[in-house]
Amino acid sequence: MSERPFDAESAYRRSISREDRVTHPRYAALIDTLATSETARQLLGEAPAEQRNPMLVLAALHYAALEGDSVLAPLYANIMDTPPDDFAREVRNRLERAPQLVRDQLSRSTQTNEPGRSAVLVGVLRALQARGVDDVHLIDIGTSMGFNLYPEYYPINENEDDPLAINVEYLNPLGSEGAMANIHQRIGIDPNPLDPSDFNDVRWLEACLWPEAPERIARLHALVTRIPTWPSATRLAGTALEFIDTALDSCSSDATPVVFHSWVAAYFSPEDQARWRACMLERVERGAIWVYLEHPDYVRALAPPPDALASPRSGGSQVVVALAGEGASSWGWAHAHGRWMALSEAKR
Ligand SMILES: C[S@@+](CC[C@H](N)C(=O)[O-])C[C@H]1O[C@@H](n2cnc3c(N)ncnc32)[C@H](O)[C@@H]1O
Repeated sequence: MSERPFDAESAYRRSISREDRVTHPRYAALIDTLATSETARQLLGEAPAEQRNPMLVLAALHYAALEGDSVLAPLYANIMDTPPDDFAREVRNRLERAPQLVRDQLSRSTQTNEPGRSAVLVGVLRALQARGVDDVHLIDIGTSMGFNLYPEYYPINENEDDPLAINVEYLNPLGSEGAMANIHQRIGIDPNPLDPSDFNDVRWLEACLWPEAPERIARLHALVTRIPTWPSATRLAGTALEFIDTALDSCSSDATPVVFHSWVAAYFSPEDQARWRACMLERVERGAIWVYLEHPDYVRALAPPPDALASPRSGGSQVVVALAGEGASSWGWAHAHGRWMALSEAKR
């Protein structure tokens, strides 16, 4: 069977949800204009197959701005004062004159570490606690800088002045309140774990954020100073398949290992997605709990359980939980960054 050629234009157009178009009009305009730029399409095609995500191009442009590029730096610094079409046109012009700015970063990967996804994990850990799972070890696959190794440290819908505060709209009651399981060990796995004390790692993570969301940038900077004061975590440098057994074997028997990933399997090859699914379903039958938040369109080889109730809002990511004796079930939907969630009774 011949492989379909990569369609960079539609990759750009599909890379932003309808909801994000409203809240990030300048990035929406930029994405639309990059979709029609031969240079931008070509650059995306030059990225390694698993990284052909328009977010990599956007992060590279933002990185150049943070590094002080004479055209991009003032544009990004004053983004909120610039009309969307002007911002998009000027960034595109710069990209077309200096494609090397992006090309130099194509060997990186989009490692956006979104703490808002911890709210989804908290929702699942509350629902699990209600089923009697009181003590867990947390294994965060694709941990990036490790922000989702500390779900209980984010004030959810409280302390709004705290830059770590996460606001969540609960569309269903499941997971919206109650105690969550206690976390004993914390283990992150990532081929390139990022270090909060490394200036370049922090800068790349900032570049992966969208500049029209200054609260996310403030949260990143607050986190890099707070994480060193929180309980230590083990970080394993390698792929999920390489290190899952090392992580599980290191877990003491006083708690249940919960293996979590959010927006990670989307970056696996289809073969690795299928291998990961088989591997995890086997580990689940031996007592681990597998939880993921991924967009079903990007993880088809994980065979996410069909959910008769489609996402209540456009662009939702699916929450899937696999338990021993039950296999993998859909537990509902959430915004990709955890801004809303609709957890519900398990559906196979
Ligand atoms: C988009 S980021 C998501 C980070 C984090 N899970 C979150 O939700 O904020 C994807 C992360 O997956 C990691 N990754 C990519 N391939 C991986 C693999 N085979 N095994 C483990 N992690 C992987 C990347 O290095 C990156 O840090």
